[in-house]
Amino acid sequence: MCGIVGAVAQRNVVPILLEGLQRLEYRGYDSAGLVVVRDGQLERVRSTGRVAELTEKSAATHGLIGIAHTRWATHGAPSERNAHPHISKNHIAVVHNGIIENYEALRTYLTAAGYEFTSDTDTEVIAHLVHSHYARGNSLLAATQAALAELVGAYAIGVIAADNPDQLICARRGSPLLLGVGSGEHFVASDVSALLPVTRQVVYLEEGDVVELGRLGYRIFDAQGTQVERAVQVSELSNESVQLGAYRHYMQKEIHEQPQALADTLESVCNSQSLVPGIFGAEAAATFADIDSILILACGTSHHAGLAARYWLEEIAGIRCNVEIASEYRYRTSVPNPKTLVVVISQSGETADTQAALNHAKAQGHGHTLAICNVPESALVRLCKLRLLTRAGPEIGVASTKAFTTQLAALFLLTLVLAKTRGRLTAQQEQQYLHELRHLPSAVQKVLELEPLIAKLAEHFAGKQHALFLGRGLHYPIALEGALKLKEISYIHAEAYPAGELKHGPLALVDKDMPVISVAPNDALLEKLKSNLQEVRARGGELYVFADADTHIHAADGIHIMQMPEHAGYLSPILHTIPLQLLAYYVALQKGTDVDKPRNLAKSVTVE
Ligand code: M6R
Repeated sequence: MCGIVGAVAQRNVVPILLEGLQRLEYRGYDSAGLVVVRDGQLERVRSTGRVAELTEKSAATHGLIGIAHTRWATHGAPSERNAHPHISKNHIAVVHNGIIENYEALRTYLTAAGYEFTSDTDTEVIAHLVHSHYARGNSLLAATQAALAELVGAYAIGVIAADNPDQLICARRGSPLLLGVGSGEHFVASDVSALLPVTRQVVYLEEGDVVELGRLGYRIFDAQGTQVERAVQVSELSNESVQLGAYRHYMQKEIHEQPQALADTLESVCNSQSLVPGIFGAEAAATFADIDSILILACGTSHHAGLAARYWLEEIAGIRCNVEIASEYRYRTSVPNPKTLVVVISQSGETADTQAALNHAKAQGHGHTLAICNVPESALVRLCKLRLLTRAGPEIGVASTKAFTTQLAALFLLTLVLAKTRGRLTAQQEQQYLHELRHLPSAVQKVLELEPLIAKLAEHFAGKQHALFLGRGLHYPIALEGALKLKEISYIHAEAYPAGELKHGPLALVDKDMPVISVAPNDALLEKLKSNLQEVRARGGELYVFADADTHIHAADGIHIMQMPEHAGYLSPILHTIPLQLLAYYVALQKGTDVDKPRNLAKSVTVE
């Protein structure tokens, strides 16, 4: 969601900015722009199209310092006049990611002070505020610091001035931003993938940091204005890991990466003979001994992972578990329990609602916190005492796939470690689960072999407007995830229900035009599910059933069966997720949608 790239170098920065923006495209955007300093003037190019269009429009642009941006509209429609960078009095240019909550009051004040607004954005107030302080003789750094002190809200920003071709100021609070350290050149970006062509040496900024970047060095000031040192880290992200390779879309690539992503996430555990709390951090043993319940906070797909985990945690570990949508929990008055472990789940680790929910939980007195996250340096990881990193690698497709299955694997590990801590796991059971986890990547690989059959099945959905997903128990969250995948990339309206709930309402929707997709594992609820499927068939509904071996659900008129290779016991939700991801992918191909960048959506939702 919004992407920032900036550079100050001894060469033309325009190609660096454009390539960086192109690498941030996956975050989601509706317009793009850049600005450079050239001969003491700001030269700006903006476009409502793709970065490719901005590249064409920037062919003649040249400068040794510049900032660039992809915008995901919040305040003001997607249009060229609202695209960043925003400029004040032809002198100060700003790019911004986040939301300025007090922008209306600032706009009124700045208008009265003689500033003319040319956009509907909240960002433009930052440009004018910096200008107002700069015009009073402050340095660009001091002017930016003074402007930031007047803002309420979240931001990552980059600032340059027409008469200062040597300095780029950037800052973050509530939105991600990192520095890239080069030789005689320095960079700033929303995430490291944007900088890989120019440097691997990065500095992750802390909340409230303000930075003055020059060609030969940089200075970082913390939220109190004190100059500080931050560690330079070498990013392990490989350039190949963010390239598409032989695949048609990132989503397809990422679906196929799941066996490896799971193997990597489970590596340390599968190579050992026993499960230890230490995989969650040094303090985990003491924390796990102290807690009596779990509270999971997350959004979207990560929330679905939490919903599945609740079944494991209560059944296997015998620990009470609540799962809440982060955007709701953050505003809800709940009853805190200091013996609760708050678990935040997030692919990006930057989701604004999940961060706010975690902070809300902490403010209520929750001291035990654990992040399950795919980005090691992210805000959520840094905000929690304990962590388990999923090792899915970069997920570029907006529709989350490998992040979800690795989150499930991580949550299963949490379940087992808690079960062991609570004396609910025999040594024999522990070995059996470890054996099943070691087998998981190859079991997922086998499910992926269903791809050609699912591609064929997807043809049935091309003309559909609606779809209903059914699951029961542990697989109800998987039905929810299947419906989310289908709706977000194919734009087909999809809903998921626990199958037992059908006759309490949704059965009214079922007729011959309503495809009903069911997850049918060979578990204790199978016979109940079969009865629910009969109810659908009796109303003329067309059934698409992903059935485990030995379920004895047979293909017939109006019943399409996709046979799963094996039943994976408690790990079955991970296997059953794969065909639903593939189904959504191939339906989206049929519909010709932009699979990796579905309309209106962003990869990391860094604003509320
Ligand atoms: O980065 P997070 O896991 O915190 O993101 C949460 C949701 O925004 C995300 O899962 C979203 O629902 C995906 N687009 C689903 O595919």
